[in-house]
Amino acid sequence: MDSIIVTGNGPLKGQIPIAGAKNACLTLMPATLLSEEPLTLTNAPRLSDIRTMTQLLQSLGAEVTSLQDGKVLAMSSHTIDNHTADYDIVRKMRASILVLGPMLARDGHAVVSLPGGCAIGARPVDLHLKALEAMGAELDLREGYVHAKAPGGLKGGIVDFPFVSVGATENALMAATLAKGTTVLKNAAREPEIVDLAQCLRKMGAQIEGEGTSTITIQGVDRLGGATHPVVTDRIELGTYMLAPAICGGEVELLGGRIDLVGAFCEKLDAAGISVEETALGLKVTRGNGRVRAVDVTTEPFPGFPTDLQAQMMALLCTADGVSVLEEKIFENRFMHAPELMRMGAKIDVHGGTATVTGVERLKGAPVMATDLRASVSLILAGLAAEGETIVNRVYHLDRGYERVEEKLGAVGARIERVAGK
Ligand code: UD1
Repeated sequence: MDSIIVTGNGPLKGQIPIAGAKNACLTLMPATLLSEEPLTLTNAPRLSDIRTMTQLLQSLGAEVTSLQDGKVLAMSSHTIDNHTADYDIVRKMRASILVLGPMLARDGHAVVSLPGGCAIGARPVDLHLKALEAMGAELDLREGYVHAKAPGGLKGGIVDFPFVSVGATENALMAATLAKGTTVLKNAAREPEIVDLAQCLRKMGAQIEGEGTSTITIQGVDRLGGATHPVVTDRIELGTYMLAPAICGGEVELLGGRIDLVGAFCEKLDAAGISVEETALGLKVTRGNGRVRAVDVTTEPFPGFPTDLQAQMMALLCTADGVSVLEEKIFENRFMHAPELMRMGAKIDVHGGTATVTGVERLKGAPVMATDLRASVSLILAGLAAEGETIVNRVYHLDRGYERVEEKLGAVGARIERVAGK
């Protein structure tokens, strides 16, 4: 497996283009299964997770063609030839469960393996299943697979989520577009990726109201048509690269960045003493001299501070002046980067879902291991500011979520290179 070598050096300067959102693209792609007509996504990110979803959709009989070096995905699901999402593909990526709602809604049956993905907690799919049951699906769990049926088609229903789930909201939203009657999703996720999905589904002919709020109402229609849709900007990639100059100084403009996508995160950067400014092309982040200030962070569903930026924020706070407390409220096992950061000299105490970080003057480079997608990039960020060389091993997860990380950081002056694994 490849490794990434980062050598801490001076301030960064320049521009970094931000790609389309991985998490939006991974829910927009299965939407092709809802229609016989073509769905084309522009501004798609070039990532291994997208290739995994491509493989999965192709295994079901969809045509997926990658154009313009992967930035455009032309999809068409004239028929669904195979209604079984196989364990071999699904285990690689949890978002695979998102093919369940669309297949069931369109053809009244589907079999999907229970998913795998990053090892950041138990991450069950019970809310996805309960939502589909509320729409009349009959479900049976056998040998690691969900066997779903809706013989007379799905029917509109009231889905009241006990807590916010992005994926379950997406699955239910897609399924409800073709259900008979009205579906109301209560306590729905409000993430920008949900808004993006609703906008795309509406272009395909769906009747949806309330996306971006906690209550989404869907009036089912008989069929959906085709559409062309640009994938929304990746707010997690945006936040990650905003942290690069925040950690090692300088001034970097994030092209395509939007403050409304990262509001809660920007408030914390501001409290730490990092300046964020809107520009004609995106967002500009500047860090002056001196240490950043310690800040407390609690992860929450959108519009709160995103769990997917917690590891990267911790990398920044490792060298803050003072003590920061990070509370992880979304996933129960998401501090696996902490022991790796400690190998670089960070002072971190983890107790359950709380990490207390006592800032040190400077981190020191070390060989470290990437344990999940966001943890991998937090170690790269930490390496940018550390003294000496940091070798991030097992970067397989990184390629799932960040396109051309070495190129993007290298272009603003970071010393970073990839070493091919044997
Ligand atoms: C999505 C994102 C992921 C992000 C997460 C939270 C994608 C592809 N991934 O993941 O990057 O970290 O949102 O913002 O979009 N849960 C259950 N039962 C369920 C579903 C979820 O208990 O049926 C729990 C999870 O274990 C977790 C919490 O609910 O503790 C939130 O998970 P959810 O919002 O569903 O995350 P994902 O959609 O998997």
